[in-house]
Amino acid sequence: MCGIVAYIGSKDAAPILLEGLQRLEYRGYDSAGVAVAGRSGALRLRKVKGRVADLAEALPARFKGTAGVGHTRWATHGEPNDANAHPHLDGTGRIAVVHNGIIENADLLRDRLAADGAVFASETDSEVLAHLIAAHTGEGTDLEDAVRRALKHIVGTYGIAVLDAARPDRIVVARNGSPIVLGIGEKEMFAASDVAALVRYTRQVVHLDDGELATVRADGFRTFTEDARTTAKQPSTVDWEVGSYDTGSHRHHLIKEIHEQPDAVERTLRGRLDDRFHTAHLGGLNLDARELRAIRRVKILGCGSAYYAGEMGAQLIEELARVPAHAEPASEFRYRNPVIEADTLYVAVSQSGETYDTLAAVQEIRRKGGRVLGVVNTVGSAIARECDGGIYLHAGPEISVASTKAFTSTVVAFALLALHFGRVHDLSPADGRRICAGLKALPGQIREILAREERIAGLAAEYAKHEGMMFIGRVRGWPVAREGAQKLKEVSYVHAEAYPASELKHGPLALISPELPTVAVVPDDELLDKNLTTLGEIRARSGRVLAVGHRAPDPRHADHAVVVPRNEPELDPLLLGIPLQLLAYHAAVALGRDVDKPRNLAKSVTVE
Ligand code: G6P
Repeated sequence: MCGIVAYIGSKDAAPILLEGLQRLEYRGYDSAGVAVAGRSGALRLRKVKGRVADLAEALPARFKGTAGVGHTRWATHGEPNDANAHPHLDGTGRIAVVHNGIIENADLLRDRLAADGAVFASETDSEVLAHLIAAHTGEGTDLEDAVRRALKHIVGTYGIAVLDAARPDRIVVARNGSPIVLGIGEKEMFAASDVAALVRYTRQVVHLDDGELATVRADGFRTFTEDARTTAKQPSTVDWEVGSYDTGSHRHHLIKEIHEQPDAVERTLRGRLDDRFHTAHLGGLNLDARELRAIRRVKILGCGSAYYAGEMGAQLIEELARVPAHAEPASEFRYRNPVIEADTLYVAVSQSGETYDTLAAVQEIRRKGGRVLGVVNTVGSAIARECDGGIYLHAGPEISVASTKAFTSTVVAFALLALHFGRVHDLSPADGRRICAGLKALPGQIREILAREERIAGLAAEYAKHEGMMFIGRVRGWPVAREGAQKLKEVSYVHAEAYPASELKHGPLALISPELPTVAVVPDDELLDKNLTTLGEIRARSGRVLAVGHRAPDPRHADHAVVVPRNEPELDPLLLGIPLQLLAYHAAVALGRDVDKPRNLAKSVTVE
């Protein structure tokens, strides 16, 4: 979704802003723009519908300025076009604003400003900010005061960066529900909505809190509250490598991230397995054994793949700790006035740590006195900071819209939580040892599956010829099937429907024909016979079957099979999902899709 970059220093701002915007492209967007201010006090603006590359081409040779703000827009209010792209200016062309988030009272503010003579150039909610800030900018008023006062009228969410041509020695940024991070350089400063835009220039960052503003100058910054009280901030160091944001030797981020999974899982596990007591150490939980024992239920919340990873997590917790656990889409949960219980542990799952629905669910639970843990990849993100404790994935940056390595690392983090939780309850030391050994074997086993990529690519090309596919699984295999179907539809646009294998004959069996093949998740567990019966029913109706399991079924049950190594039954779902990622990726490549940026989707959905 929308991205913000700002620069102030002694260098030419435009190339730095363009480079930063390119690093934010992965989030999904439809238009881009930059505004720069030079010491002469002139503001230059260029914005276009299309890609950052189109913007770069559209920039005139004379586009000089040492302070500037840039934006990638993902349309919410008004179609993607040049006028609706950011930055937005006030009537005099002095104030330039870039905005992420949604201003809920934009219509009201627009009417009021228009009545006072403001003329609007776009259909966006964001433009009101430029006019409103300009309306508060009088003789002798500081830009920070004007921004602060203007924001008092705003209902909604924002991350903003404001440039004033009359004061090109500063940029004012503010955050409320939409992230803003400052980057500290050598006699230059940066600000962005995502550290990805900054890592090329600096690793020293400062995350703003909701309700906080900052004045950023070439030689430093000052943070303060909406009531003008100065706040103290400690810079932190970003440990992600610049190279993690490139595709390296791979054709797409998605396949690179699929191949990074063994390393990502190793990082999620590192230092967290205890071979003495056969349990897991999770330093960030902030829950002692007695508090853990008092938990009667676990409720897991997330969106998209994070929700499906939560479903696998719920199963692991129930199996290993024998505590009832359930996952629910965060977006549904937050709108149904949920009952919050003191003895329930709530767990919010998010790769980005920014997904608005998940954040809103966390805020609702905490407001009602519930305890929330975060299972989050992005250190210092909004959700991570809003939670009472949590587990960081350490999977490294995930750029491709479709989640793979963060998904797998999330399930591994849940396995650690379930192991720890189980060992506080009744999981025996022997079972604890078994799960520890299983977790340690995962990276090598994922590598074994990835080595079979070529065969899976061949199958993908063949199966991608169909207009739709059915994905089935039973109990442990069911969330695997759901995530497999999600992956296929989001990157290849092939219709994919996931069903519990047990439910097939209650409806979807009517769809089975040679044109609708089935991908079946069939681990060698106690349900294998039941699964094989279902496959027989599909084959008897001329349905084609691609089975993913621990051995190749005979031709009565499947046309093709992908075999994965065996781990412990509780951990097998982690491995069974990997071939389905490769299947989706290669189906998308075979169909010529924009693999890393599927149509209509965004990496972090920061709006409702
Ligand atoms: C978007 C992305 C999905 C992702 C979901 C949750 O819908 O397209 O790939 O799974 O958001 O994102 P999060 O960052 O909260 O894990």
